[in-house]
Amino acid sequence: SFEIKIASSGATFTVPEDKSVYQVLTENGIEIMVSCEQGVCGTCLTRILEGEPDHRDLYLEEHEHAANDQFTPCCSRAKSRLLVLDL
Ligand code: FES
Repeated sequence: SFEIKIASSGATFTVPEDKSVYQVLTENGIEIMVSCEQGVCGTCLTRILEGEPDHRDLYLEEHEHAANDQFTPCCSRAKSRLLVLDL
């Protein structure tokens, strides 16, 4: 598991192995737009202010993955213990 922090509120949530970042956000009343939920469409793209994502999408280009400043919360996860999201 890893933690996500909402930059605007400072709220921190745990993302367990069996849930996506998107699911955890929704369960906590934070709505983001999703469509494919498979890392294909890019609808859910969210900026990252801190931490290293574990990219699992097919949407971003390789150099965009390498920049580590955005990710797809419908399917991507974290390599670092904490991701701070620009939400
Ligand atoms: Fe399509 Fe996340 S909803 S990439």
